[in-house]
Formats: sequence, C-alpha cells, structure tokens
Amino acid sequence: MDDIQDILFDEQTITDKVREIAARISENYAGKELVLICILKGAAVFTADLMRRLTLRVSVEFVQAASYGASTTSSKNIVVEHGGEIDISGKHVLLVDTIIDTGKTMDCLFKKFEAQNPATLKAVVLLDKKARRTADIMISYSGFEIPDTFVVGYGMDHGEKYRNLPYIAALKPAAQ
Ligand code: IMP
Ligand code: MG
Repeated sequence: MDDIQDILFDEQTITDKVREIAARISENYAGKELVLICILKGAAVFTADLMRRLTLRVSVEFVQAASYGASTTSSKNIVVEHGGEIDISGKHVLLVDTIIDTGKTMDCLFKKFEAQNPATLKAVVLLDKKARRTADIMISYSGFEIPDTFVVGYGMDHGEKYRNLPYIAALKPAAQ
C-alpha cells in the first residue's frame, strides 16, 4: 500500500451513502422494474452493493468500457464490449459507474443505449469529479463530489491494482 496517500471515504461512509442512494432510487422507481447496467470493471463493487439495497425488481447487465489503461488521464477512445445483446427497449435503465470524470464514458454509453429506445435512461455514480467534466450529460444520482485527485479502491484501480480496497483512497502524486 506504499502508493496510498490518505483515505477519503472509509467503509462506513461508503455504506451509508450507498444506502441513501438506493433509498432514493427505490422511491423514484417504485412499482417499476429496473435494468442496472454495470460499467466494468470499476463499477463491479458499487453495483453489487447498490443492487442489494434496492427494494425493486432488478435485473443486471454488464458492459466493459475501457479508456484509461495504466494512465491516470483519460484517453479519447472508449471501447465498449459486452457478451451478447442487451435488450432494453421499453425498459427503465440505470447506468452504474463508481466515478465520473470527463464524462466521455457515460456520454458514449448514453448514445449507445438511447438508440435502443429504453423507457427511461439515467445514470448513477458514487463519485463525481465535476470540475473535469467536458461532456454535457445529466447524472441523476450522485454520492460525493470530489476534487481532481486520482482515487483507488472500492472497485477502482491504478494499473489494475487496489480494486479490492474496502475504502476509497487518494494515490500519492508520485505514484500517478
Ligand atoms: P471519464 O470517461 O473521463 O468520465 O472516466 C470515467 C472512467 O475513468 C471511470 O469509469 C473509471 O474507470 C475511470 N476513472 C476516472 N477517474 C478515476 C480515478 O480517480 N481513479 C480510478 N479510475 C478513474
Ligand atoms: Mg482503470
């Protein structure tokens, strides 16, 4: 853990926030079925926690969107992959990511899924680096706003490391 600078959100803080977000989503979609689309790999942990707190009929799909690799700055190309077709026409769909930065990943996925005529298409993120946004998109559910610092843990990586940390931490600038 040599590269960890400090803990920004501990386990309890994350749990409380996930619970709060899940309550809002459960209320807003009451009586409806919801399709969660988990944006791999970073949103695997958040999705697993969030879905277990929803008091709705939920199904879950997974897409892989990669833009970063081992670097901490966003590259322009976002590659979206998923195994088989995801049928979302006429359904209520919520894209799930742990963090939004420039918004390019979400923008790309919004365009892809909007074309398939869902009943509604919205997004939830745990962390929002608002200052870095370049894409013009609406995030319906957001947990914490954070400054422009690279963070790891709770599913998020740096060069595939640290996804397993139960807390969210800032990396030392020297490690980025
Ligand atoms: P965007 O397309 O610039 O919004 O970047 C979103 C994606 O970049 C997220 O799905 C994460 O995989 C990754 N990402 C952005 N910021 C961080 C960070 O601070 N730590 C780890 N991954 C990040
Ligand atoms: Mg990454």
